[in-house]
Amino acid sequence: MEISLTDYERFKAILEKQSGILLGDNKQYLVVSRLNGLLQESNLTSLSELINKIASPSGSVLLKQVVDKMTTNETLWFRDRYPFDYLKNTIIPELRRTTNRIRIWCAACSTGQEPYSITMQLEEISALIQTEIVATDLSERVLDKARQGIYQKIELNRGMPADKLRRYFQDLNETDWQVNERLRSKVRFQPLNLLSTPYGFGKFDVIFCRNVLIYFSNENKTKVINGLIDSLKPGGYLFLGASESLTRDSQTLKMVRCNPGLVYQKEG
Ligand SMILES: C[S@@+](CC[C@H](N)C(=O)[O-])C[C@H]1O[C@@H](n2cnc3c(N)ncnc32)[C@H](O)[C@@H]1O
Repeated sequence: MEISLTDYERFKAILEKQSGILLGDNKQYLVVSRLNGLLQESNLTSLSELINKIASPSGSVLLKQVVDKMTTNETLWFRDRYPFDYLKNTIIPELRRTTNRIRIWCAACSTGQEPYSITMQLEEISALIQTEIVATDLSERVLDKARQGIYQKIELNRGMPADKLRRYFQDLNETDWQVNERLRSKVRFQPLNLLSTPYGFGKFDVIFCRNVLIYFSNENKTKVINGLIDSLKPGGYLFLGASESLTRDSQTLKMVRCNPGLVYQKEG
């Protein structure tokens, strides 16, 4: 599939407006590899046709599918390790001194490894407190998988410790394991586009929003970070990805070291 520069620029603009995902120059190959299958399924022969279709009033279903295909859903269990240790060893004990109800939001949760990793940490320490865990993503496809909680051995090999595998999963067959029902019932998965501020989920004690802002322009990063800060309770914590940080124009937060990384805290 050939993509003219004009078509590529049109496509980039639509994708960014819908999702915040900003494609770099010369990423035509990515568009081709992600959309080839969808183009064939939809009986379209060129990106130009596809753009015309998704820009038309009858193209909203296809537009959603296109955006979904363009998301990068790379994730793993206990990614970077330190946010999960700091949550369990420092944040939860600190919050427990003042509340017995803790609200955590995992934004851009992909296929569920991150919110389930959070839930496993809480299970091990918080028998006496109530926790509410909300997990959101733009992609309905990844949310469906997350809700089912079924993972293949190859996915579990990416960070799931053997003792937790035994404790929290059920062996379905030779290749698949499912997160047990108790753990699945603790996470509420919901679709949400991070560009749609304000979010309207109420205030949270802890927000994870990791490895998604790297795909956004500075302007959208600032908009999302400010939306997340508005969704934090006073004294609440925000985890960004290991290579992400606040922007120059976002509201400021206190930086707290939790070696080898850091977490941001809203003034109490
Ligand atoms: C690379 S994954 C990160 C998953 C997980 N947070 C982690 O760090 O392992 C990025 C996720 O962000 C989601 N995403 C992209 N744009 C989004 C948007 N505008 N609103 C909500 N989620 C979005 C994608 O669907 C994808 O699942």
